[in-house]
Amino acid sequence: MRAIALKILVVFGTRPEAIKLAPVIRELESDPERFLVRICVTAQHRRLLDQVLTAFAITPHHDLGVMEEDQDLLRLVALCLRRLGPVLESERPDWVLLQGDTVSTLAASLAAFYSSVRVAHVEAGLRTADKHCPFPEEMNRRLTSCLADLHFAPTPRARKNLIQAGIAAGQIHVTGNTGVDALATVRDRLSNRAARIPGLEHLNGARPLLLVTSHRRESFGAGLQQICRAVREIASSCDVNVVYPVHFNPNVQRPVKQLLADLPNVFLIDPLDYLSFVALMERSHLILTDSGGIQEEAPSLGKPLLVMRDVTERVEGLDAGTARLVGTDPERIVAETTRLLNDPAEYARLQQSANLYGDGKASVRIARILAAEPR
Ligand code: UD1
Ligand code: UDP
Repeated sequence: MRAIALKILVVFGTRPEAIKLAPVIRELESDPERFLVRICVTAQHRRLLDQVLTAFAITPHHDLGVMEEDQDLLRLVALCLRRLGPVLESERPDWVLLQGDTVSTLAASLAAFYSSVRVAHVEAGLRTADKHCPFPEEMNRRLTSCLADLHFAPTPRARKNLIQAGIAAGQIHVTGNTGVDALATVRDRLSNRAARIPGLEHLNGARPLLLVTSHRRESFGAGLQQICRAVREIASSCDVNVVYPVHFNPNVQRPVKQLLADLPNVFLIDPLDYLSFVALMERSHLILTDSGGIQEEAPSLGKPLLVMRDVTERVEGLDAGTARLVGTDPERIVAETTRLLNDPAEYARLQQSANLYGDGKASVRIARILAAEPR
């Protein structure tokens, strides 16, 4: 007699969750005998999420449409919880599968727990020692770990963090990060894509390209202004082009445009679709970011990275020497950037290519582990 397929409800809401769950969804959907996959997006992000859904041809079964302009966390989590209730009731899944550390992740894990549905957490076990940094992600992931029944840790270090947090070893599986799987699926589709990005057609190819992104809530206000001051100083004093896809969050758009729009070699553009962004990372000389996902992707692409945060949970890059934590102090950011621009030996030290966060097979492992679970 054939076993009944496990019903997995995949819930996510933002750009990075969608990118990192896309290869898992594909893997689960490739085995319909074992898995019945249903997809629910909270749409905590709208345009940024839709870009990824289009890139990976994902059509959600439920779209909760929660995003509001400049949303606040309390209202966002309340909206997600309220709208997830009827979905869980109608779908009655065996598992809710979620990823990372956003408000959507936490809300989905809490809603599943209250509905007595088991929770499988992708990218479990990332930690800093500071509950406020990154904010609110550090607490989102700690709380999600408390609610989850299966923990897919990307690295041995993440596994260790989970053990220290009191999670039973038998519930933890080291799989690699599914973001590395996503990267692998697009790398052979990039041909010359960076050259076709609107707004960048006239980029002077002879100059080194510095790619900048920032969006962390704990940096809003002073931190982000300092980052902009540093970028301004670098663009004014070095022979470089700076490309800065500006996150749609109005708390990012406002200061970045105010402080950087007038410089001829700073290109402020809208956030890019995933393929174009990967192509741009490949073309770049150096990446300056406070993003989590980009910290994982840069070493796989062999790109030196400066992390504009005070702490990071992605310590593997720091340990391997492919990334450097530079905080948000403008003097430090300028000094480290100019050093890498002017000192080839120093640049070469950070440039080694290494899959520090996964080997591209995390999704296959996750599917295999879920398939072995009882219904
Ligand atoms: C969210 C996550 C963060 C993650 C980041 C990835 C939380 C609290 N934050 O941060 O962990 O690293 O996504 O990018 O879960 N907006 C748009 N269109 C979009 C997306 C955002 O206009 O497609 C604007 C809206 O005004 C929205 C605001 O950005 O209210 C903030 O969005 P939100 O999801 O709350 O926070 P992010 O900073 O994007
Ligand atoms: N990314 C993208 N377009 C952009 C900037 C980033 O597709 O303009 C991708 C990037 O390759 C990575 C992910 O978005 O996979 C990171 O998302 P973000 O920095 O918003 O969130 P975080 O990883 O910090 O949670």
